[in-house]
Amino acid sequence: MSEQTVSIRTTGKVIQSPCGPIVHGLEDVLVKITSISDIDGRAGKLWYRGYRIEDLAENSTYEEVVYLLLYGKLPNVKELEDLKRRLAANRDLNPATIEVVRSLAKAHPMFALEAAVAAEGAFDEDNLKLAEALRAGRYKQEEKDLALKIAEKLVAKLPTIVAYHYRFSRGLEPVRPRADLSHSANFLYMFFGKEPDPLATRAIDLYLILHADHEIPASTFTALVIGATLSDLYSVIAGAIGALKGPLHGGANEAAVKSYLEIGDPAKTKDLVEAATKPGGPRLMGVGHRVYKAYDPRAKIFKKLVEDYTAKFGDPQKLYAIASGIEQAVLSHEYFQQRKLYPNVDFWSGIVFYYMGIPYDYFTPLFAMSRVVGWTAHVLEYWENNRLFRPRACYVGPHDQQYIPLNSRT
Ligand code: ACO
Repeated sequence: MSEQTVSIRTTGKVIQSPCGPIVHGLEDVLVKITSISDIDGRAGKLWYRGYRIEDLAENSTYEEVVYLLLYGKLPNVKELEDLKRRLAANRDLNPATIEVVRSLAKAHPMFALEAAVAAEGAFDEDNLKLAEALRAGRYKQEEKDLALKIAEKLVAKLPTIVAYHYRFSRGLEPVRPRADLSHSANFLYMFFGKEPDPLATRAIDLYLILHADHEIPASTFTALVIGATLSDLYSVIAGAIGALKGPLHGGANEAAVKSYLEIGDPAKTKDLVEAATKPGGPRLMGVGHRVYKAYDPRAKIFKKLVEDYTAKFGDPQKLYAIASGIEQAVLSHEYFQQRKLYPNVDFWSGIVFYYMGIPYDYFTPLFAMSRVVGWTAHVLEYWENNRLFRPRACYVGPHDQQYIPLNSRT
């Protein structure tokens, strides 16, 4: 393709390139068949394995949701108890991984999480065995069982990495996991080093339930791309963590709370919202979604928890009051109505974490701690009918340029 003939136009989500239309950002492009989760973006609905997120949020625990997403059905009492036992037994890290986390104590925890997951994968014999089988073209029942076992280990270990990083970053000794606590209670115990308040435990558990899967966002797509190369499951998760780190994806709850703190006064929310409607103005964090063109159902559920939490513990920095002001201004503003922009799940979640004393930097790691189950479930499902992802690009540069030796170049 010569440069002179290049004509590129972007019409909405499609780039008209010389090689044909390109769906920019792969918006609405289907990449796999799934029975894990489904979203109705226009109605604002989300299902995991056919169960409404509202029912799961009200009645289940994160462990139940882990079982549902990995095994395709809700567990009975024995299945759940067995899963809890297996998770509790797998919480510890390899000593070398602990040193990786310690060496990154001053870095953002997402760097530590990414590196520690990759490191732990190198020490997990099951992971290496599965990777070898995949390379040999085997994915039968034995390998599927092994993949599920590794997925559970990843779910069990991520909270330990996050909590240990927090402790190291504050110059504190790590607190070993406790097998008698639930997944969420144990996380808070390892993080703060004391028995958690039941409402705080419920807040973490609800957050983990609401973020466990969401079809194919950027991080899950990253997981699929890595998984489809038949790399190992820990590398899949390390890559997905890298994708989640970006502010357009997992980093928005941190950005949302920062913006509430910056305003500092509920009377000033209208100015912030107005500024976001101006051309080139700052985006409102926690508002808008690629798929939801209605109020994000997860945000509605979490809002109720923020209300319960602030009713019990107060709203000293007025974060709930500020967020409510922004919400009202967004819902009534023509700019947001026309573009179908509503609060997303990140709009409310950071408020509770902030009041619990969890520093901003740990908000996105919490997201990863939850989504790890969705990432692995999707990769396991994709391996049933694996095919390498290998898209093409439309080249618009020159060809057959004359090579000029280094010393002759001007
Ligand atoms: N504030 C102000 N305007 C916005 C916002 C926002 N938060 N989000 C979108 N818009 C506007 C855009 O400026 C654009 O306006 P225009 O048509 O006049 O140019 C229009 O809405 C469409 O925006 P796009 O960027 O095309 O929408 P897209 O689907 O690509 O973006 C995204 C979705 C990235 C989430 C976006 O809404 C955003 O940046 N939101 C803030 C960040 C955020 O909350 N991310 C978390 C997402 S949820 C999650 O990952 C768990």
